[in-house]
Amino acid sequence: MKNIILTADRPTGRLHIGHYVGSLRERVRLQNETTYDELYVMIADAQALTDNSGNPQKVRDNIIEVMLDYLSVGLDPEKTTFCIQSQITALPEITSYYMNLVSLNRLLRNPTIKSEIQARGYGSEGGMPVGFATYPISQAADITAFKANLIPVGDDQEPMLEQTREIVRSFNHTYNCNFLVECKSVLAKNLSCTRLPGTDGCAKMSKSVGNCIFLSDEPSVIKKKVNSIKTFPRQIDEPGILENNILFIYLDAFCTDKHFEKYYPEFKNLDELKESYAKGGIGDGKIKAFLNNILQEELEPIRERRKSFENKIPMLIDLLKRGTAKANEIASATLNEIKQAMGIDYFSNDEFENEQIKKFTN
Ligand code: TRP
Repeated sequence: MKNIILTADRPTGRLHIGHYVGSLRERVRLQNETTYDELYVMIADAQALTDNSGNPQKVRDNIIEVMLDYLSVGLDPEKTTFCIQSQITALPEITSYYMNLVSLNRLLRNPTIKSEIQARGYGSEGGMPVGFATYPISQAADITAFKANLIPVGDDQEPMLEQTREIVRSFNHTYNCNFLVECKSVLAKNLSCTRLPGTDGCAKMSKSVGNCIFLSDEPSVIKKKVNSIKTFPRQIDEPGILENNILFIYLDAFCTDKHFEKYYPEFKNLDELKESYAKGGIGDGKIKAFLNNILQEELEPIRERRKSFENKIPMLIDLLKRGTAKANEIASATLNEIKQAMGIDYFSNDEFENEQIKKFTN
Protein backbone atom coordinates (compact mmCIF):
# COMPACT_ATOMS: atom_id res chain seq x y z
CA MET A 1 0.00 0.00 0.00
CA LYS A 2 1.12 3.52 -0.71
CA ASN A 3 1.75 5.97 2.09
CA ILE A 4 0.23 9.31 1.24
CA ILE A 5 0.39 12.01 3.87
CA LEU A 6 -1.95 14.99 3.74
CA THR A 7 -2.86 17.74 6.09
CA ALA A 8 -4.21 21.28 5.98
CA ASP A 9 -4.65 24.48 7.92
CA ARG A 10 -7.20 27.25 7.72
CA PRO A 11 -5.54 30.52 6.69
CA THR A 12 -7.15 32.79 9.25
CA GLY A 13 -3.94 34.01 10.87
CA ARG A 14 -0.31 33.23 11.46
CA LEU A 15 0.40 29.80 12.93
CA HIS A 16 1.20 29.46 16.64
CA ILE A 17 3.05 27.09 18.93
CA GLY A 18 -0.13 25.03 19.38
CA HIS A 19 -0.06 24.26 15.64
CA TYR A 20 3.65 23.63 15.95
CA VAL A 21 3.69 20.97 18.67
CA GLY A 22 0.31 19.54 17.63
CA SER A 23 1.00 19.00 13.96
CA LEU A 24 3.70 21.04 12.18
CA ARG A 25 6.59 19.44 14.09
CA GLU A 26 5.10 16.00 13.34
CA ARG A 27 4.83 16.83 9.63
CA VAL A 28 8.46 17.85 9.49
CA ARG A 29 9.42 14.63 11.26
CA LEU A 30 7.36 12.56 8.81
CA GLN A 31 8.89 14.51 5.94
CA ASN A 32 12.46 13.91 7.05
CA GLU A 33 12.44 10.62 8.92
CA THR A 34 9.94 8.32 7.27
CA THR A 35 9.41 6.86 3.85
CA TYR A 36 6.26 7.85 2.01
CA ASP A 37 5.07 8.27 -1.53
CA GLU A 38 3.58 11.75 -1.39
CA LEU A 39 3.26 14.52 1.17
CA TYR A 40 0.65 17.21 0.61
CA VAL A 41 0.09 20.29 2.71
CA MET A 42 -3.04 22.19 1.79
CA ILE A 43 -4.05 25.72 2.67
CA ALA A 44 -7.75 25.25 3.43
CA ASP A 45 -9.05 28.66 2.36
CA ALA A 46 -12.46 27.34 1.31
CA GLN A 47 -12.91 25.81 4.75
CA ALA A 48 -11.82 29.09 6.37
CA LEU A 49 -14.58 30.84 4.39
CA THR A 50 -17.26 28.60 5.93
CA ASP A 51 -17.26 30.86 8.98
CA ASN A 52 -15.57 33.91 7.46
CA SER A 53 -17.75 34.49 4.41
CA GLY A 54 -17.96 38.20 5.14
CA ASN A 55 -14.21 38.59 5.36
CA PRO A 56 -12.52 37.01 2.35
CA GLN A 57 -9.75 39.59 2.59
CA LYS A 58 -8.63 38.04 5.88
CA VAL A 59 -8.37 34.64 4.22
CA ARG A 60 -6.59 36.07 1.18
CA ASP A 61 -4.11 37.94 3.38
CA ASN A 62 -3.19 34.84 5.33
CA ILE A 63 -2.37 32.49 2.45
CA ILE A 64 1.22 33.71 2.25
CA GLU A 65 1.48 34.19 6.04
CA VAL A 66 0.72 30.48 6.49
CA MET A 67 3.03 29.51 3.62
CA LEU A 68 5.83 31.49 5.33
CA ASP A 69 5.13 29.60 8.56
CA TYR A 70 5.31 26.27 6.69
CA LEU A 71 8.69 27.01 5.17
CA SER A 72 10.05 28.51 8.37
CA VAL A 73 9.37 25.37 10.43
CA GLY A 74 11.24 23.29 7.87
CA LEU A 75 8.68 21.94 5.44
CA ASP A 76 10.77 21.44 2.34
CA PRO A 77 9.37 22.18 -1.13
CA GLU A 78 11.58 19.42 -2.53
CA LYS A 79 9.64 16.90 -0.47
CA THR A 80 6.27 18.52 0.18
CA THR A 81 3.59 19.61 -2.28
CA PHE A 82 1.86 22.83 -1.21
CA CYS A 83 -1.57 23.58 -2.63
CA ILE A 84 -4.57 25.88 -2.18
CA GLN A 85 -7.91 24.19 -1.56
CA SER A 86 -10.21 26.61 -3.43
CA GLN A 87 -8.19 26.23 -6.63
CA ILE A 88 -8.61 22.45 -6.76
CA THR A 89 -11.74 22.26 -8.84
CA ALA A 90 -12.61 18.61 -8.23
CA LEU A 91 -12.99 19.07 -4.46
CA PRO A 92 -16.43 20.76 -4.33
CA GLU A 93 -17.72 18.28 -6.88
CA ILE A 94 -16.52 15.30 -4.85
CA THR A 95 -18.04 16.95 -1.76
CA SER A 96 -21.43 17.18 -3.45
CA TYR A 97 -21.54 13.42 -4.11
CA TYR A 98 -20.43 12.61 -0.56
CA MET A 99 -23.20 14.83 0.82
CA ASN A 100 -25.70 12.20 -0.27
CA LEU A 101 -24.01 9.61 1.93
CA VAL A 102 -24.16 11.52 5.23
CA SER A 103 -27.26 12.21 7.30
CA LEU A 104 -27.82 15.63 8.80
CA ASN A 105 -28.09 14.06 12.24
CA ARG A 106 -24.73 12.36 11.85
CA LEU A 107 -23.13 15.69 10.89
CA LEU A 108 -24.49 17.49 13.91
CA ARG A 109 -23.35 14.69 16.22
CA ASN A 110 -19.71 15.35 15.26
CA PRO A 111 -18.17 16.49 18.58
CA THR A 112 -15.78 18.96 16.92
CA ILE A 113 -18.64 20.59 15.05
CA LYS A 114 -20.70 20.61 18.24
CA SER A 115 -18.07 22.53 20.19
CA GLU A 116 -17.38 24.87 17.27
CA ILE A 117 -21.10 25.65 17.02
CA GLN A 118 -21.00 26.62 20.69
CA ALA A 119 -17.81 28.66 20.38
CA ARG A 120 -19.23 30.64 17.47
CA GLY A 121 -22.62 31.20 19.08
CA TYR A 122 -24.40 29.48 16.16
CA GLY A 123 -26.37 27.32 18.57
CA SER A 124 -28.19 30.10 20.35
CA GLU A 125 -28.74 32.31 17.30
CA GLY A 126 -29.51 29.45 14.94
CA GLY A 127 -27.47 31.30 12.32
CA MET A 128 -25.16 28.46 11.36
CA PRO A 129 -24.25 28.58 7.66
CA VAL A 130 -24.99 25.33 5.84
CA GLY A 131 -21.47 25.44 4.44
CA PHE A 132 -20.10 25.45 7.96
CA ALA A 133 -22.18 22.49 9.10
CA THR A 134 -21.03 20.48 6.10
CA TYR A 135 -17.33 21.28 6.20
CA PRO A 136 -16.49 17.81 7.58
CA ILE A 137 -17.78 16.40 4.29
CA SER A 138 -15.60 18.74 2.29
CA GLN A 139 -12.70 17.75 4.54
CA ALA A 140 -13.41 14.12 3.61
CA ALA A 141 -13.13 15.20 -0.03
CA ASP A 142 -9.76 16.89 0.69
CA ILE A 143 -8.40 13.69 2.16
CA THR A 144 -9.86 11.10 -0.20
CA ALA A 145 -9.16 13.05 -3.41
CA PHE A 146 -5.50 12.35 -2.75
CA LYS A 147 -6.11 8.85 -1.35
CA ALA A 148 -4.25 10.02 1.73
CA ASN A 149 -3.93 7.46 4.51
CA LEU A 150 -1.82 9.36 7.07
CA ILE A 151 -3.11 12.63 8.48
CA PRO A 152 -0.90 14.50 10.99
CA VAL A 153 -3.35 16.62 13.00
CA GLY A 154 -4.17 17.69 16.53
CA ASP A 155 -6.53 15.34 18.32
CA ASP A 156 -9.45 17.78 17.95
CA GLN A 157 -9.54 16.59 14.33
CA GLU A 158 -10.10 12.92 15.20
CA PRO A 159 -13.90 13.18 14.78
CA MET A 160 -13.33 14.61 11.28
CA LEU A 161 -11.22 11.62 10.35
CA GLU A 162 -13.80 9.24 11.80
CA GLN A 163 -16.41 10.90 9.62
CA THR A 164 -14.10 10.60 6.62
CA ARG A 165 -13.65 6.87 7.23
CA GLU A 166 -17.41 6.44 7.43
CA ILE A 167 -17.85 8.21 4.10
CA VAL A 168 -15.16 6.02 2.54
CA ARG A 169 -16.82 2.83 3.79
CA SER A 170 -20.23 4.04 2.69
CA PHE A 171 -19.01 5.03 -0.77
CA ASN A 172 -17.07 1.83 -1.38
CA HIS A 173 -20.04 -0.23 -0.17
CA THR A 174 -22.77 1.71 -1.99
CA TYR A 175 -20.95 1.79 -5.33
CA ASN A 176 -19.32 -1.59 -4.97
CA CYS A 177 -15.73 -0.46 -5.31
CA ASN A 178 -12.65 -0.23 -3.13
CA PHE A 179 -10.45 2.56 -4.43
CA LEU A 180 -11.22 5.07 -1.69
CA VAL A 181 -8.76 4.70 1.17
CA GLU A 182 -9.43 4.83 4.92
CA CYS A 183 -7.18 7.30 6.70
CA LYS A 184 -5.77 7.48 10.18
CA SER A 185 -4.39 10.32 12.24
CA VAL A 186 -0.76 10.70 13.16
CA LEU A 187 -0.82 12.36 16.58
CA ALA A 188 2.05 14.00 18.42
CA LYS A 189 3.66 11.81 21.04
CA ASN A 190 2.43 13.31 24.28
CA LEU A 191 -0.91 14.64 25.40
CA SER A 192 0.46 18.13 26.15
CA CYS A 193 1.38 18.44 22.47
CA THR A 194 -1.94 17.30 21.09
CA ARG A 195 -3.85 19.74 23.29
CA LEU A 196 -1.68 22.73 24.03
CA PRO A 197 -3.80 25.17 26.05
CA GLY A 198 -3.74 28.95 25.55
CA THR A 199 -1.58 31.24 27.68
CA ASP A 200 -4.78 32.14 29.59
CA GLY A 201 -5.46 28.52 30.53
CA CYS A 202 -8.27 28.08 28.00
CA ALA A 203 -8.36 24.58 26.57
CA LYS A 204 -7.19 25.65 23.12
CA MET A 205 -4.85 28.23 21.70
CA SER A 206 -6.94 30.35 19.41
CA LYS A 207 -6.41 33.55 17.50
CA SER A 208 -9.90 34.85 18.24
CA VAL A 209 -9.38 34.49 22.02
CA GLY A 210 -5.96 36.15 21.84
CA ASN A 211 -4.12 33.55 23.92
CA CYS A 212 -1.50 32.44 21.38
CA ILE A 213 2.24 32.57 21.15
CA PHE A 214 2.87 32.90 17.42
CA LEU A 215 5.81 31.27 15.68
CA SER A 216 6.76 34.69 14.36
CA ASP A 217 6.52 36.56 17.69
CA GLU A 218 9.53 38.74 18.51
CA PRO A 219 11.64 37.82 21.59
CA SER A 220 10.21 40.60 23.77
CA VAL A 221 6.65 39.54 22.89
CA ILE A 222 7.37 35.90 23.73
CA LYS A 223 8.80 36.96 27.08
CA LYS A 224 5.80 39.14 27.87
CA LYS A 225 3.38 36.37 27.00
CA VAL A 226 5.25 33.79 29.09
CA ASN A 227 5.26 36.17 32.06
CA SER A 228 1.52 36.74 31.66
CA ILE A 229 0.72 33.02 32.05
CA LYS A 230 -1.56 32.63 35.05
CA THR A 231 -0.43 30.25 37.75
CA PHE A 232 -1.92 29.09 41.04
CA PRO A 233 -1.22 31.68 43.76
CA ARG A 234 0.86 30.23 46.60
CA GLN A 235 3.73 30.94 48.97
CA ILE A 236 7.04 29.81 47.54
CA ASP A 237 7.58 27.06 50.14
CA GLU A 238 4.07 25.67 49.73
CA PRO A 239 3.80 22.54 47.56
CA GLY A 240 3.50 23.34 43.85
CA ILE A 241 0.51 22.01 41.92
CA LEU A 242 1.41 20.22 38.69
CA GLU A 243 -2.05 19.29 37.50
CA ASN A 244 -3.40 21.72 34.88
CA ASN A 245 -0.33 23.89 35.37
CA ILE A 246 0.13 25.66 32.03
CA LEU A 247 3.85 26.22 32.62
CA PHE A 248 4.44 22.50 33.00
CA ILE A 249 2.18 21.61 30.09
CA TYR A 250 4.32 23.88 27.89
CA LEU A 251 7.50 22.39 29.36
CA ASP A 252 6.14 18.91 28.62
CA ALA A 253 5.65 19.93 25.01
CA PHE A 254 8.97 21.70 24.50
CA CYS A 255 11.74 20.88 26.92
CA THR A 256 14.49 18.31 26.54
CA ASP A 257 17.28 17.22 28.88
CA LYS A 258 19.65 19.46 26.90
CA HIS A 259 17.65 22.50 27.92
CA PHE A 260 18.25 21.55 31.56
CA GLU A 261 21.98 21.29 31.00
CA LYS A 262 22.00 24.74 29.48
CA TYR A 263 19.45 26.73 31.48
CA TYR A 264 18.66 24.80 34.66
CA PRO A 265 21.62 22.61 35.61
CA GLU A 266 20.30 22.02 39.14
CA PHE A 267 18.05 19.38 37.56
CA LYS A 268 18.73 16.66 35.03
CA ASN A 269 15.31 16.44 33.49
CA LEU A 270 11.68 17.45 33.74
CA ASP A 271 10.74 14.59 36.08
CA GLU A 272 13.30 15.80 38.63
CA LEU A 273 12.09 19.37 38.35
CA LYS A 274 8.45 18.30 38.72
CA GLU A 275 9.25 16.28 41.83
CA SER A 276 11.03 19.16 43.46
CA TYR A 277 8.38 21.72 42.40
CA ALA A 278 5.65 19.56 43.89
CA LYS A 279 7.45 19.52 47.23
CA GLY A 280 7.65 23.31 47.29
CA GLY A 281 10.45 25.85 47.32
CA ILE A 282 10.52 26.67 43.61
CA GLY A 283 8.72 29.87 42.61
CA ASP A 284 6.78 30.19 39.37
CA GLY A 285 9.03 33.07 38.28
CA LYS A 286 11.89 30.62 38.04
CA ILE A 287 9.83 28.22 35.91
CA LYS A 288 8.72 31.07 33.67
CA ALA A 289 12.31 32.17 33.13
CA PHE A 290 13.25 28.59 32.20
CA LEU A 291 10.29 28.24 29.84
CA ASN A 292 11.12 31.59 28.26
CA ASN A 293 14.71 30.48 27.60
CA ILE A 294 13.48 27.32 25.92
CA LEU A 295 10.88 29.04 23.76
CA GLN A 296 13.38 31.72 22.73
CA GLU A 297 15.85 29.03 21.67
CA GLU A 298 13.23 27.01 19.76
CA LEU A 299 11.52 29.93 18.04
CA GLU A 300 14.56 31.99 17.05
CA PRO A 301 15.62 29.87 14.04
CA ILE A 302 11.99 29.64 12.89
CA ARG A 303 11.57 33.42 13.06
CA GLU A 304 14.87 34.04 11.28
CA ARG A 305 14.04 31.59 8.47
CA ARG A 306 10.67 33.29 8.11
CA LYS A 307 12.39 36.64 7.63
CA SER A 308 14.61 35.22 4.91
CA PHE A 309 11.58 33.82 3.05
CA GLU A 310 9.80 37.17 3.30
CA ASN A 311 12.24 38.31 0.59
CA LYS A 312 11.18 35.47 -1.68
CA ILE A 313 7.43 35.95 -2.10
CA PRO A 314 7.50 35.25 -5.89
CA MET A 315 9.13 31.89 -5.15
CA LEU A 316 6.39 31.09 -2.63
CA ILE A 317 3.67 31.96 -5.12
CA ASP A 318 5.37 29.79 -7.71
CA LEU A 319 5.55 26.84 -5.31
CA LEU A 320 1.85 27.20 -4.59
CA LYS A 321 1.02 27.48 -8.27
CA ARG A 322 2.96 24.38 -9.21
CA GLY A 323 1.77 22.38 -6.22
CA THR A 324 -1.83 23.30 -6.89
CA ALA A 325 -1.47 22.26 -10.56
CA LYS A 326 -0.21 18.85 -9.45
CA ALA A 327 -2.98 18.58 -6.84
CA ASN A 328 -5.55 19.39 -9.54
CA GLU A 329 -4.34 16.48 -11.65
CA ILE A 330 -4.53 13.99 -8.81
CA ALA A 331 -7.92 15.18 -7.50
CA SER A 332 -9.44 15.21 -11.01
CA ALA A 333 -8.29 11.65 -11.59
CA THR A 334 -10.01 10.58 -8.36
CA LEU A 335 -13.15 12.49 -9.34
CA ASN A 336 -13.20 10.53 -12.60
CA GLU A 337 -12.95 7.27 -10.68
CA ILE A 338 -15.77 8.43 -8.42
CA LYS A 339 -18.03 9.24 -11.34
CA GLN A 340 -17.18 5.99 -13.00
CA ALA A 341 -18.04 4.02 -9.86
CA MET A 342 -21.36 5.87 -9.66
CA GLY A 343 -22.06 5.29 -13.34
CA ILE A 344 -22.27 8.98 -14.20
CA ASP A 345 -19.28 9.08 -16.53
CA TYR A 346 -21.51 9.23 -19.63
CA PHE A 347 -19.00 10.65 -22.07
CA SER A 348 -15.76 9.06 -20.93
CA ASN A 349 -16.14 6.19 -23.43
CA ASP A 350 -18.91 4.80 -25.67
CA GLU A 351 -20.33 2.39 -23.09
CA PHE A 352 -23.28 4.63 -22.22
CA GLU A 353 -24.13 5.26 -25.85
CA ASN A 354 -23.97 1.57 -26.79
CA GLU A 355 -26.03 0.52 -23.79
CA GLN A 356 -28.75 3.04 -24.58
CA ILE A 357 -28.81 2.15 -28.29
CA LYS A 358 -29.18 -1.49 -27.34
CA LYS A 359 -32.01 -0.69 -24.95
CA PHE A 360 -34.02 1.05 -27.66
CA THR A 361 -33.24 -1.43 -30.44
CA ASN A 362 -35.68 -4.30 -30.83
N1 TRP B 1 -10.07 21.23 9.83
C1 TRP B 1 -8.64 21.40 9.82
C2 TRP B 1 -8.29 22.43 10.89
O1 TRP B 1 -9.11 23.25 11.25
C3 TRP B 1 -8.10 21.86 8.50
C4 TRP B 1 -8.28 20.87 7.37
C5 TRP B 1 -8.99 21.08 6.22
C6 TRP B 1 -7.70 19.58 7.29
N2 TRP B 1 -8.88 19.99 5.40
C7 TRP B 1 -8.10 19.04 6.02
C8 TRP B 1 -6.88 18.81 8.13
C9 TRP B 1 -7.71 17.77 5.60
C10 TRP B 1 -6.50 17.55 7.72
C11 TRP B 1 -6.89 17.03 6.46
O2 TRP B 1 -7.17 22.45 11.35
